[in-house]
Amino acid sequence: MVNTHRKLILNIYCSAIILPQICICSQFTSSSNDQYNENPGVFPVATNGEPFPWRELRLPTKVIPLHYDLFVHPNLTSLDFVASEKIEVLVRDTTQFIILHSHGLEIMNATLQSEEDLRYKKSQIALLVPEKLMADLRYSVAIDFQAKLADGFEGFYKSTYRTLGGETRTIAVTDFEPTHARMAFPCFDEPLFKANFSIKIRRESRHIALSNMPKVKTIEREGGLLEDHFETTVKMSTYLVAYIVCDFASVSGTASSGVKVSIYASPDKWSQTHYALEASLKLLDFYENYFNIHYPLPKLDLVAIPDFESGAMENWGLVTYRETSLLFDPKTSSTSDKLWVTKVIAHELAHQWFGNLVTMEWWNDIWLNEGFATYMELISVNVTYPELQFDNIFLNDCFEVIKSDSLNSSRPVSKQAETPTQIQEMFDDISYKKGACLLNMLKDFLSEEKFKKGIIHYLKKFSYRNAKNDDLWSSLSNSCLESDFTSGGFCYSDSKTTSNTLTFLEENVEVKDIMTTWTRQKGIPLVVVEQEGRLLKLRQERFLNGVFRDDPEWGALQERYLWHIPVTYSTSSSNAIHRHLLTSKTDTLYLPEKTSWVKLNVDSNGYYIVHYEAHGWDQLIAVLNQNHTLLRPKDRIGLIHDAFQLVSAGRLTLDKALDLTHYLQHETSIPALLQGLDYLESFYHTMDRRNISDITENLKRYLLQYFKPVIDMQSWSDEGSVWDRRLRSSLLKLACYLNYAPCIRKATELFSQWMESSGKLNIPSDVLKIVYSVGAQTTEGWNYLLEQYGLSLSGAEKNKILYALSTSKHQEKLIKLIDLGMEGKVIKTQDLASLLYAIARNPKGQQLAWNFVKENWTHLLERFELSSFPMRIIISGTTSHFSSKDELQEVKLFFESLQTQGSYLEIFQIVLETISKNIKWLEKNLPSLRNWLLISI
Ligand code: BES
Ligand code: ZN
Repeated sequence: MVNTHRKLILNIYCSAIILPQICICSQFTSSSNDQYNENPGVFPVATNGEPFPWRELRLPTKVIPLHYDLFVHPNLTSLDFVASEKIEVLVRDTTQFIILHSHGLEIMNATLQSEEDLRYKKSQIALLVPEKLMADLRYSVAIDFQAKLADGFEGFYKSTYRTLGGETRTIAVTDFEPTHARMAFPCFDEPLFKANFSIKIRRESRHIALSNMPKVKTIEREGGLLEDHFETTVKMSTYLVAYIVCDFASVSGTASSGVKVSIYASPDKWSQTHYALEASLKLLDFYENYFNIHYPLPKLDLVAIPDFESGAMENWGLVTYRETSLLFDPKTSSTSDKLWVTKVIAHELAHQWFGNLVTMEWWNDIWLNEGFATYMELISVNVTYPELQFDNIFLNDCFEVIKSDSLNSSRPVSKQAETPTQIQEMFDDISYKKGACLLNMLKDFLSEEKFKKGIIHYLKKFSYRNAKNDDLWSSLSNSCLESDFTSGGFCYSDSKTTSNTLTFLEENVEVKDIMTTWTRQKGIPLVVVEQEGRLLKLRQERFLNGVFRDDPEWGALQERYLWHIPVTYSTSSSNAIHRHLLTSKTDTLYLPEKTSWVKLNVDSNGYYIVHYEAHGWDQLIAVLNQNHTLLRPKDRIGLIHDAFQLVSAGRLTLDKALDLTHYLQHETSIPALLQGLDYLESFYHTMDRRNISDITENLKRYLLQYFKPVIDMQSWSDEGSVWDRRLRSSLLKLACYLNYAPCIRKATELFSQWMESSGKLNIPSDVLKIVYSVGAQTTEGWNYLLEQYGLSLSGAEKNKILYALSTSKHQEKLIKLIDLGMEGKVIKTQDLASLLYAIARNPKGQQLAWNFVKENWTHLLERFELSSFPMRIIISGTTSHFSSKDELQEVKLFFESLQTQGSYLEIFQIVLETISKNIKWLEKNLPSLRNWLLISI
């Protein structure tokens, strides 16, 4: 068969012998004995009505890719691209077809003629060959294809930005994880199919092209076009491939190992790239040392993309970021902005090892990527930027995920995921935050040194390959010698003496046994402790937020849950940290000496909540009031957290938890103070939203009275340590929000000066958002801010302005913002989710935001994929604060209507349960809150 009939052409040769070209997706003979379907019978139907030879979502493994030659030519004027590729594959087992992923790509010759001979499903194409492909031979598949540059944020898409001069420019950029490489080129789009990639990009001379690897050469092509050829990559998964055509400027530096690091941004934002360069060089040095494994590529580019759906993406050698996750503007970026940029860089660079070098076998274990990258943020930032005290941010992440993990609708860390929607849903707090917090707990249990050895062993052993949970557990059990690593070798159990092997096996069983109780069961345990003289009685339960012990479902929800909990505790009588692995429901320990109080979960390193029975809480509250420094700062934070969680679970009265916060007046640790303040503030917001005016007023009085000394101490400046500055931002924000006159006065004054200076005045960055928010309360101020929003070149400033605009009390202004967000010009589509979130936080906007989501659901789905980050933020952001039965019913009905249209997300159940929990909380605690305030003010 020859090329002339213009069907899809498959170019097949084995070794060097070129076989005749044959066509794809035609004349598929069923005489083949391929086992393409487990139980033959109904074939899925291809788009042309013919049977499609493969019915699974996952690709067959008979054919694996070895190398891709990929040529791409995007046209930034016509906004499309033409491309071709040659995939070298190895046939492992005789087969008569090759299945590839391909989504939304026009495979040229085939579509040119008729679709009848094409067999493709939505995300797969079948290449059918009349002659069998022989096992152990290599073949080469050549495909020409084209498509429009995508409109959204996935695949090969277009992004635009405005220059200082007001011109709009377009760039083309990729974003593939988890399943979008198939939108850019036909490929084996699963993490296990690692291959090498040689990429060529054709472009105009006014642009540059970037890809994972450095450029080897540029060739001139007809029409004045240039073609960049990039070095071949190391073996990697498709989701990490990246290329960009743009006109960006960069700053560069060299890491200690010689790797060239560059930060790219649109030309006018060049001045905001310097912090990122400093941070990425420091962090790259840190990781190369820490892992004792070189970053394997010659260069690392970090690029700020004007339209980006998530925060950042770790493409190997070409990490892409939302502008606000990479750029730091000394004038308008606050200390919290710096923390965020540092966190995101640390996270994505950690992925260059955890994720890129060693990849999970399948998406069910995405926590091996995301949990580790989140955990490594803690390790690397604490060393490279100790002044950020990142451990406090990390602890907050753990508290954050506990909120959802203590609902019955939570999920286990490892969970089956097959469809692209299910896969995308795995990118949630459970994978990121619970994953990281569990690793931190395990590190604390094993010791930092042993844990580090284990993860290095894991990284070395599985480099350029894929791993699963059990591989990690066995690496962590393997106590190798330092020399095993420095010599570049690995150590395995069989290289040890018999007695060592035994130790190894025992240890192996232990880590795995412990950790599977955390990764395969959903939820978080509650450790109930009772001290009786020198006896310490421990009991474990499943901790359930919003389900009380006398609820009928309580018993059933407890059944069969058991964790291996690394319990730690300290006592009043010494500084020692005691340890015990609680593997049964109950246990009794004997305290080494007489002691007046016991505090469990030292430094809040464990992923569990502690309840002190009998006089336990009273004793601890007394310690806090007498001399809180007898407890470590993170223990104080943990007590505040656990106390309020226990209130939600009906185990502790609200009075008691509130009494605990009384000591905060003397609290010397800012993170602890912020933790307490956070709860009180959240109660205020709940009351305000519900319009419970007596409590709202009294809470306001209480907060302003109680925190007055520390509020009055705050200056309107950027002075002090990172946490001094965070405290300042939080306190002044609260004070102005509560209409505290001195705060409003100062903010108004600064805002007027700023307006008078035509936006030139430098307001201290930590109070900028507060000043803008106060300024946004007048129509003049609001309009002026919106104007500045359109002009500002600082993403950090724009975020602050947008937030300020969203706090307006005028519905028509909020509607205008939503309209602008939907239009996607002044307010970019990438910022729509946080806009709706912010409006829903505003008591005057909550109903508006929610109604908007209900009425515009399909329009939102035109912009974002159902299970994408923004959609999930929009869904939970506009609903999960509800706290009445009517609201619950409304949300429920809406979700049910979506389900009948075939849309279902895990977050629906989480939201419904959260609202039920809120309802219960109010039913139970409203009277106590009211009374407590009456006696406290
Ligand atoms: N690998 C993710 C990006 C991603 C997110 C891909 C969701 C597919 C689906 C990246 O490493 C990431 O985790 N980004 C975070 C930032 C991080 C600092 C938590 C993000 O985008 O929020
Ligand atoms: Zn990540």
